[in-house]
Amino acid sequence: MKGIVLAGGSGTRLYPTTGVINKHLLPVYNKPMIYYPLSVLMLMDIREIAIVVNPKDEGQFKALLGNGSTLGISIDYIHQPEPKGLADGLARAEEFADGDKVCLILGDNVFFGHGLPEKLREARKWIEEGGGGCVFGYFVNDPSRFGVIEFDRQGRVVSIEEKPQKPKSNCAAVGLYIYDERVFKFAKEVKPSQRGEMEITSVNEAYLKEGSLRVNLLGRGFAWFDAGTHDSFLEAGEFVATIEKKTGLMIGCIEEIAFNKGWISRQELIKLAQPLKKTHYGDYLLKIAGEEA
Ligand code: DAU
Repeated sequence: MKGIVLAGGSGTRLYPTTGVINKHLLPVYNKPMIYYPLSVLMLMDIREIAIVVNPKDEGQFKALLGNGSTLGISIDYIHQPEPKGLADGLARAEEFADGDKVCLILGDNVFFGHGLPEKLREARKWIEEGGGGCVFGYFVNDPSRFGVIEFDRQGRVVSIEEKPQKPKSNCAAVGLYIYDERVFKFAKEVKPSQRGEMEITSVNEAYLKEGSLRVNLLGRGFAWFDAGTHDSFLEAGEFVATIEKKTGLMIGCIEEIAFNKGWISRQELIKLAQPLKKTHYGDYLLKIAGEEA
C-alpha cells in the first residue's frame, strides 16, 4: 500500500498567515503541520509516500523533508497546479500508485488516540484482503464544515454529503481514506460540485453505490482536528501542547516513529538530533536514542 498526503490547495482560510508560507508547514505547536499526517501513514507501516503540492511550494517541502531517506521512507512530490479539489489531487497520484492500493490523508488533519495505529492497520488489512473503500467517521458539533455520513437504524451508511446546509447526522468523514486500486478510475470520473471542486465525497459515493464502502467510527477515545481554519489550527496546537506537556511524549514525531520501527538506526537518529541540540525537540530525540541531552 502506498500513502498520499494532499498538501495542495491555497490555504485561503488561513490568510494572511499563508501569504508566503504553505499552510502545511505552519507549526502546530512544536512541529510543522505535515508531520502529523505523515506520522499517521508511518504508523500504518506505509513507507512509500507521495505529497501532492502546488509546484510553487515544492521547494519548501523538499527543504524540510527531502526524499524521505533520512527517515527510512521515500517521498515523491506530485504537482497539482490549481486547487481543483481533493479528487483531482488524488487522481494526479495514479502513476505513483502504480496499480497499488492507497491510503489518502489530508495534509491539515491531526489525529490522536490510544489504539489508533492498530485500528488503521486493521482497516488497511481489510482493503488488502479485497475491501473497496474505507472512511472514518467522527462525531462533531459543526458537521456542516465537513463530509457528513448518514446511517440507517441498523447502522448502515445511507449517504455521504459534502458540507450540507442541513446535515443528516453529526458524523463527519475525517480526512483519512483507504482505497483499492480502482480509486483512480472513480476519481477521474468525478465532476465538479456546485462549489466547483472535485470532491472526495463523490469518490466515496461511488464506493457506497456499489456496496463496497466501510465506515469505521473513531469514538470518544480519539481526537481529530482539521487544522485548516484559524480556530481549529489554534485548538489543534493547544491540544498537542497539553498532551505533550502532561505525558512527556510527542505526538507526530516522525523521527521517533522511524526509529521505533527500525527504519533508521540509533546513529542516524542521533545525527538528526545533532543540529537541533539544546532545543526541546532535539533533546527529545536524543532521549529516545538513549543519549544524555
Ligand atoms: O478534514 C476533513 C474534510 O476535508 C472532509 O470532511 C471533507 O469531506 C473534505 O472535502 C475536506 O474538506 P475541507 O474543506 O476541509 O478540505 P480543504 O479544502 O481544506 O482541503 C483539505 C486538504 O487538502 C488541505 O490540507 C489542502 C489539500 N488540498 C485541497 C484542495 C482543495 C489539495 O491538496 N488540493 C486541493 O485541490
